Amino acid sequence: MIPVLLAMPGNERMADALAAGMGAERGHFEIRHFPDGESYVRIESEVVGREVVIVCSLDRPDEKLVPLLLLSGAARENGATGVGLVAPYLAYMRQDRRFKPGEVTSVKLVAKWIGAQFDWLVTVDPHLHRIKNLAEVYAIPSCVVPAAGAIAEWIRDNVRQPLLVGPDEESLQWVADVAGRINVPHVVLTKTRRGDRDVSVSVRQVERWRGHTPVLVDDIVSTARTMIETVRGVLECGLANPVCIAVHAVFAPGALEELREAGAAQVVSSDAVEHLTNAISLAEPLTGAVSGILGARRVTPLAGARHYEKEVDIPAAAGALFDHVDDHARLAGHMEESSALMMGGRMTYQFDAAQGRAPGSVIRVAGRVLGLELSVEEVVTVREVPRRKTWQTRGATRLLVIGAYRMGFEIDAVGRDASKLRVFIDYTPAAGLMGRIAGILLTPLYARWCVRRMAEDARRRFVDQRRQA
Ligand code: R5P
Repeated sequence: MIPVLLAMPGNERMADALAAGMGAERGHFEIRHFPDGESYVRIESEVVGREVVIVCSLDRPDEKLVPLLLLSGAARENGATGVGLVAPYLAYMRQDRRFKPGEVTSVKLVAKWIGAQFDWLVTVDPHLHRIKNLAEVYAIPSCVVPAAGAIAEWIRDNVRQPLLVGPDEESLQWVADVAGRINVPHVVLTKTRRGDRDVSVSVRQVERWRGHTPVLVDDIVSTARTMIETVRGVLECGLANPVCIAVHAVFAPGALEELREAGAAQVVSSDAVEHLTNAISLAEPLTGAVSGILGARRVTPLAGARHYEKEVDIPAAAGALFDHVDDHARLAGHMEESSALMMGGRMTYQFDAAQGRAPGSVIRVAGRVLGLELSVEEVVTVREVPRRKTWQTRGATRLLVIGAYRMGFEIDAVGRDASKLRVFIDYTPAAGLMGRIAGILLTPLYARWCVRRMAEDARRRFVDQRRQA
C-alpha cells in the first residue's frame, strides 16, 4: 500500500514535492480550534494498514506541537501501521542543558514527546552543539539530511568568487562542508552572545579576501543579530556587501528588514522553513531520506534464525570507529579477497547513491564461488550514528551455505579513545540440499568467520594506527 503524506498547515509545498518524488498519496485531514483554543483534528483519508508521513517544520513550535501530536495519534487510532515525522526544522534543540538553576533541558523533554508519538524522524541539520548526535536525545530512528550539498550548488551557480564566512565556532561544521564541496576558501569567526538580541562577532584576518564575495552561512537565523553583526564586521574590514544564507529561515518579526538595512546584498534560505527568502530546495534529499526509511520498514523479520556475535576492544573514539565500520566495503573487505572459507571465490559490492550510509540504502553483493554465480541484496535497516547499524537480506538470496541473514554492529564508548565493538549475525542456512548439508557445520563456520573478520579487521586497523602514531 502506498504511504499517505499529511501536511500540517504551511507545509503543503514541501509535502507536495515529497509525495510526487516518492509516488505517495497526499492525504487530507481537518484541523481547527474549539472556541476555548483546544485543537481538533480528524483524518479524512484512508490510513488503515498504511504508513503515514506527517510533514511539519517546527518553527514557531509551541502553536504546532499539540495539533501535530494529536494528528499522529489520530493516524494511529485509525489504523496506520506506522507514523513518521518529517520536520525539516527541528525546534527546541538549543537548550541542551540547564545553564542556570531552575531551567529545564527542553531538548530532552521535547524529544520524549515527539518520540512517544512517532516511529521515526527525518530532519535537516538540527542544531547539534554539545549534543553531537540526534540519537543521544531521540530514541526513535532518525535521519539527518544535510543542506550542504544544495547550498554549495546554489553558491556555485550564483556567487562570483565566494569566501564562506561562519559567524561562530558552531557554524564550522556547515561552512567547512559547503566550502569543501565547491573548493572555495572559508573563515570562521568568534561570537559572544550576552542575551537574545545582544550579540557581538569578532571579525579578524579577513582583509586578504577583499576581492571575494563574502557568503555568510548559518544554520538558524532568528533575531538575525548574529548575521547583522557579521555583516557589519566584514563591511568594516573593507569586504564587499555579503550574501547571507540561512538553512532555517526562522526570522523573528522585523529581523529580515534589519538584516537588509545592515548591508546584506542578498538574503536567501533553504525551504526547510517556508519563507519569502527560500531559494534552495531540499525536496530531493528529503525524498531520498523518507523513501529510505520507509523501504527499511518494509523488511520482514527473520524467523528461526541462529545467532553469533563477537565483541572486541578498539582503541578509538566511538565516532572514528563508526566512520570506519560504516564503510560497508571496508567492513566486509574480507569478502572481496579470495580465501579458503570462500573456496577460492570472492564477492564484490555495488552501492546505490546512499553508499550504504542511510536506512533503506541497498547494497548488491555478487560473485563466483566454485564456478557458481552467487548474489544477494542487502538493505540497511537501522543506522544511528555513532551507536549502531544493521542491514538485512532482501528477497531471495543466491548463496551456497547461508540463506537470509541480518547483520549489524553496536559501539559502546568506554573512554575518550576507547570503544567496544560488537558485531553480530542472525542467519538461516541456504535453502536446498546443499544448504541442508552445509547447515550442520559449514553455515555456522562461515557465519562466525564473517563476524570475526569484521570485528578483528577493525581492531587491527586501529591498533596499527595507534602504533604508528
Ligand atoms: C546559534 O547557536 C545558531 O547557530 C545561530 O547562530 C543562532 O541561532 C542565530 O540566532 P540569531 O539570528 O537570533 O542571532
